[in-house]
Amino acid sequence: MEIAFFEVNDRDKVELASKFKGRNVAFYKETLSAQNAAKAKNSDIISVFIYSKIDNTLLAKLPKLKLIATRSTGYDHIDLNACKKHRIKVCNVPTYGENTVAEHAFALIMDLSRNIRKAYLRAMGDDFEIQGLKGFDLKGKTMGVIGVGNIGKNTIKIANGFGMKVLASDPHHHKTLEKKFHFKYASLKELLKKSDVVSLHVPLIPATKHLINKKTLALMKPTALLINTSRGGVVDTDALLHALEKNKLGGAGLDVIEGEKEIKEELEILRDEGEHIKKLREVMESLELLRNDKVVFTPHIAFYSAEALERLLDTTVDNIKNFIKKKPTCIVS
Ligand SMILES: NC(=O)c1ccc[n+]([C@@H]2O[C@H](COP(=O)([O-])OP(=O)(O)OC[C@H]3O[C@@H](n4cnc5c(N)ncnc54)[C@H](O)[C@@H]3O)[C@@H](O)[C@H]2O)c1
Repeated sequence: MEIAFFEVNDRDKVELASKFKGRNVAFYKETLSAQNAAKAKNSDIISVFIYSKIDNTLLAKLPKLKLIATRSTGYDHIDLNACKKHRIKVCNVPTYGENTVAEHAFALIMDLSRNIRKAYLRAMGDDFEIQGLKGFDLKGKTMGVIGVGNIGKNTIKIANGFGMKVLASDPHHHKTLEKKFHFKYASLKELLKKSDVVSLHVPLIPATKHLINKKTLALMKPTALLINTSRGGVVDTDALLHALEKNKLGGAGLDVIEGEKEIKEELEILRDEGEHIKKLREVMESLELLRNDKVVFTPHIAFYSAEALERLLDTTVDNIKNFIKKKPTCIVS
């Protein structure tokens, strides 16, 4: 079986190479796309991170492909219907960063609630004035967690540690979870109305695309913080920018934004004639959002801790080895 890893840095390459000693394995730093698909034309298995967009056009160029092992929890960068059509299995890493991402969500919350970035930038300019840097306590405030999955549960645990009350929304209610993790289920509407901090932990699926939009933002407290460590597409960038500019929201902590792939790979946009204008607009709006004074942004690093990366690679290696042994694991489609 030929295996090709894309989006691999030097450190991971060494680690992965040692796990697949004796096998036919290739490593590429770049994302996989229709333009460089020839590199994987003989591959039975490919492994990608989230910046390789896997669609029908690309799959048509990979005739031998049997498995896509994404080194991520989310798999919205992979067209599952196209994979089914080409009889290709897809596996992910369901849990590697559940505490890691939740901890990062709190890093963003604390940055906003205590004006860390603003204070730091001032101090770097030799300005030690504290006027305008008054923060607020998390203790006693209401945390709204949207999506009570692996990451959402960890976010709830941390919020409890801060002495926050927790409301959570999820289409699936499990009464036992409420007791175990000390929170109350609420409708999305109630959660948005009552929360001082709203943290998103849902997958990007059609039902969650722009879940936070003009209408839902209007329900939130004008002082509330919105935290997004899920996927950029869950929040309508334009509506968020508008809410912040009109003082209808207290702040936003974003690890993900719409068009982040294009921001990372500006060159790719220029090659992508058809989608060019739409994507460029998305990128420009997102960039404008990042420059907003009430926004704290990190470039999709919520998962990026030493421990999480180790778990990520270990599960991917297991997924690939198990597939080869015909005992596939973590199959999503
Ligand atoms: N920023 C990062 O580095 C990073 C890292 C890992 C995961 N993520 C993102 O975080 C997301 C959540 O990860 P997870 O491991 O907790 O996933 P999970 O599948 O364990 O949990 C997702 C939860 O969202 C719920 N949900 C689905 N639709 C909903 C809706 N409309 N309203 C409320 N809840 C809804 C599901 O029922 C589920 O309980 C992933 O899909 C991924 O996109 C980001």
